[in-house]
Amino acid sequence: MYPQVNAVQKVDFAFIFIFSIAIIILIGITITIVLFLIKYNKNKNPEPADIKGNLIAETLWTVIPTIIVIGMFFAGWNSFVALRTVPKNAIEIGVEAKMWSWKFTYPNGKTDKELYVPINKPVKLNITSKDVIHSFYVPAYRIKIDAVPGLVTYAWFNPDKLGDFDILCAEYCGVRHAYMISKVHVVTVEEYMAYLEKKEDVAKVNDLPTLLDKYGCSDCHSLDGSVIAGPPLNNLMGKKRIVIENGAEKEIMVDENYLRESILNPAAKIVKDFENIMPSYKDEISDEDLQLLIELLLGKKEINLKKIGEKLAEDEGCTSCHSTDGSILAAPSFKNLYNKKHIVIKNGKKVEIVADENYLYNSIKKPEEEIVEGFDPIMPPYDYLTDEQIKSLIEYIKSLQ
Ligand code: CUA
Repeated sequence: MYPQVNAVQKVDFAFIFIFSIAIIILIGITITIVLFLIKYNKNKNPEPADIKGNLIAETLWTVIPTIIVIGMFFAGWNSFVALRTVPKNAIEIGVEAKMWSWKFTYPNGKTDKELYVPINKPVKLNITSKDVIHSFYVPAYRIKIDAVPGLVTYAWFNPDKLGDFDILCAEYCGVRHAYMISKVHVVTVEEYMAYLEKKEDVAKVNDLPTLLDKYGCSDCHSLDGSVIAGPPLNNLMGKKRIVIENGAEKEIMVDENYLRESILNPAAKIVKDFENIMPSYKDEISDEDLQLLIELLLGKKEINLKKIGEKLAEDEGCTSCHSTDGSILAAPSFKNLYNKKHIVIKNGKKVEIVADENYLYNSIKKPEEEIVEGFDPIMPPYDYLTDEQIKSLIEYIKSLQ
């Protein structure tokens, strides 16, 4: 229906075409070199021949490479045209890169950190950046295009298969570059319409981790005391901080005004030892969300440790060995783990223990000391986690009863 539907195949064809020619030439040249080494070496030909001019050879080595290069050019051109020609009926979705997450804006104004598209409808992405140069990379659709501040570029694709596909950043953009990942979710048209209409669940946004995720704060600020690219946001109320204001050091106390300024005009006071990289959220955050965020940060509303633990378990990769649904992967499941009796191997002996808070704490810091019977001692020590972080992990495990 669209001549560009097979942009993916055209890119693949260009790749395989050029790659095959390169392989054939590599093998051909290698064989020729070896044959010539044998046939024309000095022992067999003590006197070098002095050949001048060979019209046939000269014509061949000019014409054949020219044909090959023109062929490569057309294979590439064909895929380039397919990638750049957007069907008229394409849905337009905005893509904004910032350190270190993606923001997608749908035609009805809804925004999200992941991309949802309906199957078999071409999608045009208008891509830009808020800070430095990033690169929007979706291997499944052969898209890789720079996101440049102050410039809107575009890409398009035809989602012809249901499923989830990776989005990555392909341009080094700072310490969290490798974590600048997202997903394309290809869903049915009905699911897409329902997704677009779905308003944010008020109860869900009423907790700090979700709110921080929504605005991409958690890309740089932790809630467990660990330092990413910005200062951690735990226990802020009444905390003293050294900040740089107008080039001079100054001690301030964290309060509502300071937080408001830090969000709307972050460059005004930079916490010492941090870089001035945070963008202003002036046009980004609604007044209600700003107020809620400040209250949650100041502890005027309760922080949900369990949520922090849940995110940490995913980020640290705990859940790739510990399931949360009772199934057994490489390690005991987190489900119903808390307060359960276990036989562990301790100093070579079998001991019965109860998985209480102390046991869990120790298993995270020094897992090799007590290995649950029947499992391999493969877990590395997570001794770099702070006590706050471990506490949130334990709260999360406790919640999985
Ligand atoms: Cu954004 Cu690398």
